[in-house]
Amino acid sequence: MQFDIVSIFPSFFDVLDLSLMGKAQKNNLIDVRAHDLRNWAEGVHRSVDDTPYGGGAGMVMRPDVWGRALDELLVDGDVDDCIIAIPTPSGELLTQNKCEHIASTKKHVIIPCGRYEGIDARVTQYYCDRGVEVYEFSLGDYVLNGGEVAAVALVESVSRLVPGVVGNPESLEEESHSLDGMLEYPVYTKPYQWRQYCVPDVLM
Ligand code: 6GU
Repeated sequence: MQFDIVSIFPSFFDVLDLSLMGKAQKNNLIDVRAHDLRNWAEGVHRSVDDTPYGGGAGMVMRPDVWGRALDELLVDGDVDDCIIAIPTPSGELLTQNKCEHIASTKKHVIIPCGRYEGIDARVTQYYCDRGVEVYEFSLGDYVLNGGEVAAVALVESVSRLVPGVVGNPESLEEESHSLDGMLEYPVYTKPYQWRQYCVPDVLM
């Protein structure tokens, strides 16, 4: 599974070199590339945003800069194998079902991270019209400063479903059951007694 993340803060994604995600990259199960959006910006200021048509507060990210970035990252044959997943607080809620859809049907995930008031709406329109699946997603009903945190959540939740990334496939199995409606239960380990609390008899 290949992930191309585009952001004005590419070093944000160094966290994906840690732990299970780092191991999955070393084992070539996933390939995570973080790109600097300014690579595709022009002019002395390498500006990526401008004022919104119609007025209003804040700045909007320019479609020409994003278009150059995404055209370069989309490779031939990507129309079926690729999803462009755009983090935005107005998107659909990211679900385990959607992660499973991505892990089982796609080879390439492109994640354009917006900042400011978001990305010019024509970017989504254009790549939809080219036949690419464009998925605008949100982590929940609150506002973050940009899409970077949500991009990390997507990479991690999809990667865990790639065979071999999670060492013990039973933990995936168990989790999918719990999501199918079985309640998550409280868990216990040693010592048997901690402060005034003992492990429930039923587990002993
Ligand atoms: Cl995906 N982006 C931003 N900016 N804020 C959010 C979010 C995404 N999901 C929840 N809040």
